[in-house]
Amino acid sequence: MTVAPRFQHKNGTLHVEDVSLAQLAKEFGTPLYVYSRAALQDAWESYARALAGREALVCFGMKANSNLAVLAEFSRLGAGFDIVSGGELARVQAAGGDPGKVVFSGVGKQVWEMQAALEAGVKCFNVESDAELDRLSKVASTSGRVAPVSLRVNPDVDAQTHPYISTGLKENKFGIAIEQAPEIYRRAKTLPGIEIVGVDCHIGSQITEAAPYLDALDKLIALIHGLREDGIELKHLDLGGGIGIRYANEQVLEPEKLFSQVFERLEAADLGHLELVLEPGRSLVGNAGVLLTEVQYLKHSDAKNFAIVDAAMNDLLRPTLYDAWHDVEAVNPRPATAVTPSYDIVGPICESGDWLARERRLELHQGDILAVMSAGAYAFTMSSQYNSRPRAAEIMVDGTRAHVVRQRETIAGLFESERTLPADVLNNS
Ligand code: LLP
Repeated sequence: MTVAPRFQHKNGTLHVEDVSLAQLAKEFGTPLYVYSRAALQDAWESYARALAGREALVCFGMKANSNLAVLAEFSRLGAGFDIVSGGELARVQAAGGDPGKVVFSGVGKQVWEMQAALEAGVKCFNVESDAELDRLSKVASTSGRVAPVSLRVNPDVDAQTHPYISTGLKENKFGIAIEQAPEIYRRAKTLPGIEIVGVDCHIGSQITEAAPYLDALDKLIALIHGLREDGIELKHLDLGGGIGIRYANEQVLEPEKLFSQVFERLEAADLGHLELVLEPGRSLVGNAGVLLTEVQYLKHSDAKNFAIVDAAMNDLLRPTLYDAWHDVEAVNPRPATAVTPSYDIVGPICESGDWLARERRLELHQGDILAVMSAGAYAFTMSSQYNSRPRAAEIMVDGTRAHVVRQRETIAGLFESERTLPADVLNNS
């Protein structure tokens, strides 16, 4: 049993849907990201079930995985997108997504990004500060457009997750303190080029408890009631993303259970008419992907056993950045024996922090293929070329077929946009 239902051992070898991962490694090389289309659909279904018959929009938090094939699949299923940059907007457009279902988050929106989003006709700007509101008003009114706006409020709740991915506390840079929100809404109402449409919050990521969501919701409900008294009516409520996935043995939140409580509270507060917007990232893609890697060397010392593999922190930064756990499965597993060691699984990069997993008891040989599980979210999107390592290819499997959805980068591509100083400069020095 793996943490990901679409990745299962069949006849002693790990498969994704009906395709052998050993075969994919052989055909396309390693490191290799492999996604399951069916797993994307399963994850989407869990939200669709939870929101059936409701006024709701799921905007995929695409920073988790912005491959065009992933975006196109979610777009086909009816998703909108939560973007945080002009680059992400361009990806949505390239994938055929509907800009009218895009919400634009982020604390540092630049003028050109606002212009592009206005031109594309996004559903909403999630505004994160007073200064941003002023800039947006100016950019919109000079181009003769009206910017639909939500304020992203910071409800000051503890999402009980890793501090680097917790965003809803007072000390985080995100959002507008909830106590300041009414005043800024009142000001927004008077600004040219601004139309107030909603309220937004996002309290963190890899959340496994319902309580922080419900606490944030209660605070937003109180805010919305207050705004009503000021004559400000909203159309939607955006609760952000954040639902955690199973990396090891976490008990995860079921969208159906969580959102039935959300709808109940909204109805009890006489706010059942509001459209619910969500921005899930990880929970839509995390367990739809793995990172395949080949064991290059086994190295044994008194203190440690290392399996040195061809994937590294540049391909999967999460372990070293967040101390994150990713399950590691041998694609063709061998039974453990009394002398099977525990390995630290490390990459070739020249940093002690270059590790993917620690202390894993696996019977390994040189040349074995390993699958680093739960690598569909924040894996490729956080990758780099550190140590001049071309980024790995991405494959999407659909039943019995495998499609290359991103070519492996080439060595020449690493520096094709670089130039040495011109010869006359060099020769005169
Ligand atoms: N909306 C906003 C405004 C966000 O900042 C994020 C994630 C999401 C939605 C999607 O959240 P999700 O459903 O994926 O939890 N690199 C980290 C995660 C950073 C999350 C940043 N914001 C990791 O690898 O764990």
